[in-house]
Amino acid sequence: MKRDIISVLDMKEDFEKFVDEGLKLKKSFKSGKKDSSLDRKTLAMIFEKASTRTRVSFETAMTQLGGHAIYLSPRDMQMGRGETIADTGRVLSGMVDGILYRAFEHENVVELAKSSSISVINGLDNLEHPTQIVADFMTIKEAKGKFKGLKIAYVGDGNNTANSLMLAAGLVGSDFWIATPEGFEPKEKFIRDAKNLAKKHKSEIEVTNNFKEAVAGADVVYTDVWVSMGEEGEKGKKEKKFRSFQVNEKMVSLAKDDYIFMHCLPAHRGLEVTNGVADSKNSVIFQEAENRLHAEKIILKKVIK
Ligand code: CP
Ligand code: NVA
Repeated sequence: MKRDIISVLDMKEDFEKFVDEGLKLKKSFKSGKKDSSLDRKTLAMIFEKASTRTRVSFETAMTQLGGHAIYLSPRDMQMGRGETIADTGRVLSGMVDGILYRAFEHENVVELAKSSSISVINGLDNLEHPTQIVADFMTIKEAKGKFKGLKIAYVGDGNNTANSLMLAAGLVGSDFWIATPEGFEPKEKFIRDAKNLAKKHKSEIEVTNNFKEAVAGADVVYTDVWVSMGEEGEKGKKEKKFRSFQVNEKMVSLAKDDYIFMHCLPAHRGLEVTNGVADSKNSVIFQEAENRLHAEKIILKKVIK
């Protein structure tokens, strides 16, 4: 049976298992244990947009699990010359064991999944970034040892990363505050879904335009780029509106003393975050990036049979 991971909601039943088992795989890898559970399996990786972490972590994860990954850019594929996504899905299903897809449009990831008989993993689209979020909650667990009772403050753009983080916070019962400039809040559907999930834990999902409210007493302060891939045209306009939402030393002084700073990276230092914060002792951004490797391994092991 295939298992697509297109949204964090596709891990609704077992998200914490992904996190805990990902951490186990990290330990076991560090102790030198070999894991060849994806022996001779192949992952096709279609990247419509740039990537450092997602590409390298998935490719390395496949190698370390005894399998193989193929990097495909639409520029070099027939998909880029008009072959349909559906036909691409059918063809790849006959040859490889799973597909990772980084796409501009969420609908295209859904379409590829529909037409493929093998699992499709969303490697980031305009609405979500689910694989990132497994690594993020692994990092939070390492730093804080729990999810309930934590306040996570996300400051910046209500984008793909924010949507996925908010859903996961709802799933695990962390309080989640997102502060954005007016007009850049997450889409209503994600807020509603996250709030519904949070009900079970009686935890908070709060959307505000006041970053002080969000960061006050936070255990985790998270930000992401102001201008995501695909919206470069809005750079000038957005940078002006977001200026006061920069995560800097003054802003994080509102958080708990032992807060952690997170960013999915790449960071635009001097824009959404200062060097002072990104390189501070509270920053876990490189641990977070490293955790991508182990998060991808647990995701691959669960969806490739
Ligand atoms: N965080 C993340 O997905 O990074 P890349 O764009 O480098 O893959
Ligand atoms: N929100 C960013 C995340 C990059 C990993 C983007 O979509 O470009």
